[in-house]
Amino acid sequence: MRQADAILAIGFLALLCLCLSNLRALASPGIARGKHGESVMVPENPAADAGISAAAFTSMLPVLRHPRCMNCHSSGDFPRQGDDRHPHSMRIRRGPDGTGGNAVKCSTCHQDHNLAGPHMPPGAPGWHLPSPQEPMIWEGLTDGQLCALILDPKQNGNRSPAQIAEHMQTPLVRWAWNPGEGRAPVPMPVEQFRTETELWISKGAACPRQP
Ligand code: HEC
Ligand code: HEC
Repeated sequence: MRQADAILAIGFLALLCLCLSNLRALASPGIARGKHGESVMVPENPAADAGISAAAFTSMLPVLRHPRCMNCHSSGDFPRQGDDRHPHSMRIRRGPDGTGGNAVKCSTCHQDHNLAGPHMPPGAPGWHLPSPQEPMIWEGLTDGQLCALILDPKQNGNRSPAQIAEHMQTPLVRWAWNPGEGRAPVPMPVEQFRTETELWISKGAACPRQP
């Protein structure tokens, strides 16, 4: 008889916890971005874990800060080249929309694939710099600032966290794993980078604490 009582009590407690956690989820909604960038209310992500999420973002940093990415994400109105990130030869400029100055477009030399041979133009579909309006400059930012920039819809092309995870797998970004003869790829297997990105987002897209 006693044993049965105990089981009942445990069952009751478990139910109570379940109800309370559901109530909590309903009572503390969060804000997310809708398809068109508008704010929408969503129940708190029950899987969210700021510690795991921020740690996943931190593990992505050696890729994000690698010259293969930084050569398009550095300060100035020009792309960079090489592991020392020197300014692009031939005075190439960002131009009014990121595709080059009026006279010389990136696509004059950069194709949708790497051209064979050392010092030949690398390539991927849509090869260009971010626009001057949303330049996505990572140079000089702390880990937390970089994370906040990537998540900011006003600066990231109006993308939600889930859309950023998708963007990280576009051919232009994936180029950095196959950058053409004589260039070192980014230092993490592409599948691991995908896993870390998805973990960062699914656990709540948290950022490392400043700095
Ligand atoms: C050839 C230039 C180029 C290279 C190399 C490059 N990017 Fe970008 N990146 C861009 C452009 C252009 C945009 C803005 C694109 C847009 O809005 O469609 C961008 C935007 C982004 C964004 C902003 C969020 C978003 O969804 O727009 C992220 C994150 C990003 N890139 C990640 C990377 C990573 C990671 C690498 C290296 C593995 C990389 N990029 C390498 C050109 C580049
Ligand atoms: C006149 C031809 C030409 C034009 C125009 C041009 N590039 Fe290049 N680019 C090259 C060549 C050639 C290389 C390879 C240099 C090497 O490996 O020594 C290169 C290399 C690069 C790299 C270096 C990749 C790395 O990680 O080392 C980036 C980034 C780049 N270009 C971006 C751009 C962007 C963005 C534009 C347009 C705004 C552009 N380029 C316009 C010829 C050009």
